[in-house]
Amino acid sequence: MTKDIHAWLTPRLDRAAALLGGGERPVAGDLRLGIDLGTSDVVAIAVDAGDRPVGVELEWADVVRDGIVWDYFGAVGIVRKQVESLQQRLGVRFERANTSFPPGTDPRISVNVIEAAGLEVAEVIDEPSAVAGLLDIESGAVVDIGGGTTGIAVVKDGRVVYSGDEPTGGHHVSLTLAGGRGIPLEEAERLKRERGAEIWPTVQAVFEKMADIVRHHLRGHAVGTLYLSGGSCALPGVRELFAREFPALDVFLPSQPLFLTPLSIAAYRPGSATATKTYRE
Ligand SMILES: Nc1ncnc2c1ncn2[C@@H]1O[C@H](COP(=O)(O)OP(=O)(O)OP(=O)(O)O)[C@@H](O)[C@H]1O
Ligand SMILES: [Mg+2]
Repeated sequence: MTKDIHAWLTPRLDRAAALLGGGERPVAGDLRLGIDLGTSDVVAIAVDAGDRPVGVELEWADVVRDGIVWDYFGAVGIVRKQVESLQQRLGVRFERANTSFPPGTDPRISVNVIEAAGLEVAEVIDEPSAVAGLLDIESGAVVDIGGGTTGIAVVKDGRVVYSGDEPTGGHHVSLTLAGGRGIPLEEAERLKRERGAEIWPTVQAVFEKMADIVRHHLRGHAVGTLYLSGGSCALPGVRELFAREFPALDVFLPSQPLFLTPLSIAAYRPGSATATKTYRE
């Protein structure tokens, strides 16, 4: 099963990464747009009818804290800029966009940002449900380790039946690295992204703590697979650590975990969490 998901997903995620800040004019067909307002970054992805990314914008930004938009005008400005840039490059006009919210927060916050940026909201969906929909997960747990938070969602029969969010994410990884090496936070952030294998021993304990958090949330839920998402899972060592910590479970790591959640938001269609999808072209 996992093999088929990989075959469907990997080219799309790799395409998203390759398109970053660039884009191509699509041959034909309707495009859909998704906006992910995250703690570390705001990501806008445009996809074609086959859920293939055709344009991607990412801005590292401090407009969301603890899953809540706290710099409203900053967020609106970034979304406007990203949409304009995509429109220019793709030669289209977007009237609508999908957006998302972390479970347990008010979806209206994201809706307000998208509307203030001049778009209608097509769908607003909680983040793990969007991922569950894209991956067509019938049963399992989505673990989204972003910049500020680790989100855990348990999926049964294609629906999220439990979700939790903890304030530990990539920012804490960078803080640990900065403290451990005695270097400024910005340098730690850069080092982490560019030389992940080298810094892994210094930050491994942070991920062990995240694994404890995940274990705590999964108590009482029978799941067979952990589906990892979020930029922090890009560090080499994360999949192996979760596989070690959860020896009874399969651990699924997408090729570009930074783009899985935003791609899922862009591609979301109502009912897709329960639709039967074959991961073939
Ligand atoms: N190649 C990489 N290696 C390690 N960490 C990375 C890499 N690329 C991005 N990150 C980290 O991923 C985090 C951002 O991931 P993501 O975009 O999923 O978070 P977010 O959606 O903004 O945050 P949240 O979901 O917590 O609101 C940052 O902490 C960043 O440092
Ligand atoms: Mg996120």
